[in-house]
Amino acid sequence: MTSTLTQVYPIIWESDRASLIDQTRLPDEYTRIEITTYQQMAEAIKTMIVRGAPAIGIAAAYGLYLGAREIQTSDRQEFLNQLEPIAQVLRATRPTAVNLFWAIDQMLQTATETPGTIEEIKTALLHKANTIREDDIKTCFAIGEAGLIVLPKIPEKLNILTHCNTGSLATGGYGTALGVIRSAWNSGRLNRVYADETRPRLQGAKLTTWECVQDQIPVTLISDNMAAHCMKQGLIHAVIVGADRITANGDAANKIGTYSLAIVAKAHKVPFFVAAPLSTVDFKLATGDEIPIEERDPTELYQVGTTRICPEGVEFFNPAFDVTPAELITAIITEKGAVIPGELKQFSVI
Ligand code: MRU
Repeated sequence: MTSTLTQVYPIIWESDRASLIDQTRLPDEYTRIEITTYQQMAEAIKTMIVRGAPAIGIAAAYGLYLGAREIQTSDRQEFLNQLEPIAQVLRATRPTAVNLFWAIDQMLQTATETPGTIEEIKTALLHKANTIREDDIKTCFAIGEAGLIVLPKIPEKLNILTHCNTGSLATGGYGTALGVIRSAWNSGRLNRVYADETRPRLQGAKLTTWECVQDQIPVTLISDNMAAHCMKQGLIHAVIVGADRITANGDAANKIGTYSLAIVAKAHKVPFFVAAPLSTVDFKLATGDEIPIEERDPTELYQVGTTRICPEGVEFFNPAFDVTPAELITAIITEKGAVIPGELKQFSVI
């Protein structure tokens, strides 16, 4: 559970408030924002100051506590009733990452099951949010270890291609797919990361490369449409991505562009791994067709910085995620081990 690598924590709780790294400002500026109300937390999730499925879940958990602590009543049922609209505001921020809904459910369950006074329930809620965060960091380390078992065993060190940002910034710390990459680097098995820039928000270019530079992990930035060429050239030994929601059959929603990357990997016989905590698996959904896909503001597409890149009169379509079918996934790497998608159901607690 130890790492020699730099630890970046996107969400910390200190001095009675949440502190977030403002991910919209990286890599130019490393700044933290203080969050004291659930409305501020909901806005930070919506505007992607905090993003990445596990990090969104953790942020929502603290958001729920921030809302809970403002409730002024000594009546238990009234307190629980007033939690629901707060949960609803947080749920309405981003639809695809199931960790958001998972974490809110965990918090509501804690509120319902904690006996005692309202003050004691509030204390239990803060404790639960801290636990969700700490558990996520431990989970990421376990995913990293599990990934080492399934990475290709070849004489040379690995070149691994990844998409979007799945690192410390996207989790409690360390990362899922980037966590596996960190573990590979730590154990001397990694040569280099290839980071897709990840249009339109550029999480790969702005965040993944920033994390790699912090840890001195060699990284090469490519644009999203270069992956097939790199594979054809034999530059890529494995692809590892994260997920925002995985369904019971092993279909995986992740950042837009992941699906085409999986097709390209299959065509070049490059193994394609999805690394995610079990909190990202939505066993209630049978297949990826049922996953709600977020559509975001078109300015993300037509504006680069402050410059408009296309003429007026164009229409836009800006889905933030796509679904990779299970049959394109070599293995899903979880904190309980790596499995082929068809074997994921063994981890269901139902
Ligand atoms: O829109 P984002 O930046 O929140 O999307 C993030 C991703 O798609 C990640 O790959 C996913 O959440 C896994 S993060 C460990």
